[in-house]
Amino acid sequence: MIIAVDGPAASGKGTIARALAAHYALPHLDTGLLYRAVGQTLIDHGGDPADAKAALAACRFKDKLLVDPRLRDDAAGIAASIVSTHPAVRAALIDRQRSFARQPGGAVLDGRDIGTVIAPDADAKLFVRATSQIRARRRHNELTARGMAVTFDHVLADIKARDKRDSTRAAAPLRQAEDAVLLDTSYLSIESAIHHAIDIVEQRL
Ligand code: C5P
Repeated sequence: MIIAVDGPAASGKGTIARALAAHYALPHLDTGLLYRAVGQTLIDHGGDPADAKAALAACRFKDKLLVDPRLRDDAAGIAASIVSTHPAVRAALIDRQRSFARQPGGAVLDGRDIGTVIAPDADAKLFVRATSQIRARRRHNELTARGMAVTFDHVLADIKARDKRDSTRAAAPLRQAEDAVLLDTSYLSIESAIHHAIDIVEQRL
């Protein structure tokens, strides 16, 4: 069983994907981490994320980078959203995502283009969204809890800029697959969002 979970930043897709993976005992891949690892590699080496050649070279990052806590920082997220606009970078990361999806027994993947590009044949597809204000509030709480000094307005502006880049890029833009079920988490607790997500998957089995 392949479960695809897509949606914008801080929509709750990661939490939902992890909960689905635990519920169905499936392996989980947060595909945003791959783009963040490319972004972080460029930050570490002083490369420009807008430079397609440099970004492609940075796709050869070591696996151990995927557990680096710096990948959760805003800097890596912003660099990730820029490198992810390069078609060559997306192409370089496809095999890794597809082979994860096709392992025996199945998998849960979350990202922006899982239901549309990586696993169009997924058994269940969810598109998770929430208002930008609510997503910015969640991200702001998360960052301040980690001791980062950042204003709400700054986080909101970043979320909006990322939404715009993710949904207007030519290569695999963020969009809901036609056969994906929409789950709006704006006014749901984490528990009820997970409950709804399991219901959606159950209806597809
Ligand atoms: O989900 P997360 O915020 O970690 O993703 C970081 C960035 O990576 C996103 O803003 C998006 O531009 C890019 N991304 C993508 N395709 C995916 C996952 C992430 O383009 N499947």
